[in-house]
Amino acid sequence: MILDSLLDRAKEAAKAAYCPYSGLSVGAAAIDSDNTLHVGCNVENASLGLSMCAERAALFGAVAYKSSKIVAIAVYSSAGPITPCGACRQVMAELAPEAVVYWGDKPVPVKDLLPRPFGAGSLPGSRR
Ligand code: THU
Repeated sequence: MILDSLLDRAKEAAKAAYCPYSGLSVGAAAIDSDNTLHVGCNVENASLGLSMCAERAALFGAVAYKSSKIVAIAVYSSAGPITPCGACRQVMAELAPEAVVYWGDKPVPVKDLLPRPFGAGSLPGSRR
């Protein structure tokens, strides 16, 4: 089943997490409409505010690989199910607005995770 394999890939990605400060390993797996997987893990820094979440790492990687439309994202954490943080929701709203997110077995649409997001349309002179 696609969900099981997506969650498995997120779990696998979490093994690469660099998290010496929180001890929380997080992995994310995003699948696009061409069935290509994009994975990410959290990467922390001694300057704590520079740390990066797994979900954003996966989505930024997807951009670098010129992914097609992201349709689903799975998130795994070593501490049990976690919901994506606010920063990741904002990035999902921009880069994966039509995706659903799994941290358990129920899909949650990005649109429900962050209703009425700040978007490019709010910027003066935006061409999007
Ligand atoms: N973290 C994620 O990777 N994703 C989230 O949605 C929430 C938090 C990471 C960031 C940090 O490395 C650790 O979990 C503790 O906050």
